[in-house]
Amino acid sequence: MLKIESLSVYYGHIRAVEDVSFEVNEGEIVTLIGGNGAGKSTILKTISGMIAPKNGRIVYCGEEIQGLPADVIAKKRLLHCPEGRGIFPGLTVAENLEVGTYIWRKRSGEKNEEDLELVLRMFPRLKERYSQLGWSLSGGEQQMLAMARSIMGRPKLLMLDEPSLGLAPIIIQDMFETIKRISVETKLPILLVEQNAFMALNTADRGYVIENGLITAHSGCKELLDDPVVQKAYLGVS
Ligand SMILES: Nc1ncnc2c1ncn2[C@@H]1O[C@H](COP(=O)(O)OP(=O)(O)O)[C@@H](O)[C@H]1O
Ligand SMILES: [Mg+2]
Repeated sequence: MLKIESLSVYYGHIRAVEDVSFEVNEGEIVTLIGGNGAGKSTILKTISGMIAPKNGRIVYCGEEIQGLPADVIAKKRLLHCPEGRGIFPGLTVAENLEVGTYIWRKRSGEKNEEDLELVLRMFPRLKERYSQLGWSLSGGEQQMLAMARSIMGRPKLLMLDEPSLGLAPIIIQDMFETIKRISVETKLPILLVEQNAFMALNTADRGYVIENGLITAHSGCKELLDDPVVQKAYLGVS
């Protein structure tokens, strides 16, 4: 579904990502784990067309998309839910969700009841907060709204950048359970970028470890959770 081949990305002369290859298949959750500054967000921004790569190919649904403009890539329903959420604080939950449909809706009258029903079932807190303004939501609710808004765009593949960032442990648990449920119920392939390696590896099917812009390990998540090197570096096991 998504195949990244030998991707290298630079900021000026500074290397952020070097020779990275990985893939996401139908129905899978794939996670990229790694510390702060490892290059995770850069990879997602490059896939979604916000940054042009120096080298490499990005093949999505059989088509090379590297270097295409971000709006063209979004219209192909490869959707990026960025780090820091980016919801509209002055709009209600309902209006924020409506914004997510602009990618496929040709006129404002076009139906989206089924999409709404799906996201409000997946995110029941948003149903309770439907008429509230974005700024009045908790951090966890804002993150849920950002994910729900992406799903309103009818993604074929969804990329999530650190959905757990800045949230309390109990909310984080809920967040990852929701991500898993979305995957199980809708079969939507998800590329999940996380610093919270423990939760990400317990949620995803396969994982890749990124260090200083390079992939240093990849395997099934169960195997990575059992790997002593991964345990020491990312899971706090000494
Ligand atoms: N706009 C930018 N200009 C220059 N360097 C950047 C920029 N954005 C990120 N970097 C650098 O690229 C590297 C990877 O950053 P990033 O992809 O944000 O890492 P992560 O998401 O894994 O924390 C870091 O060394 C970071 O300092
Ligand atoms: Mg990041």
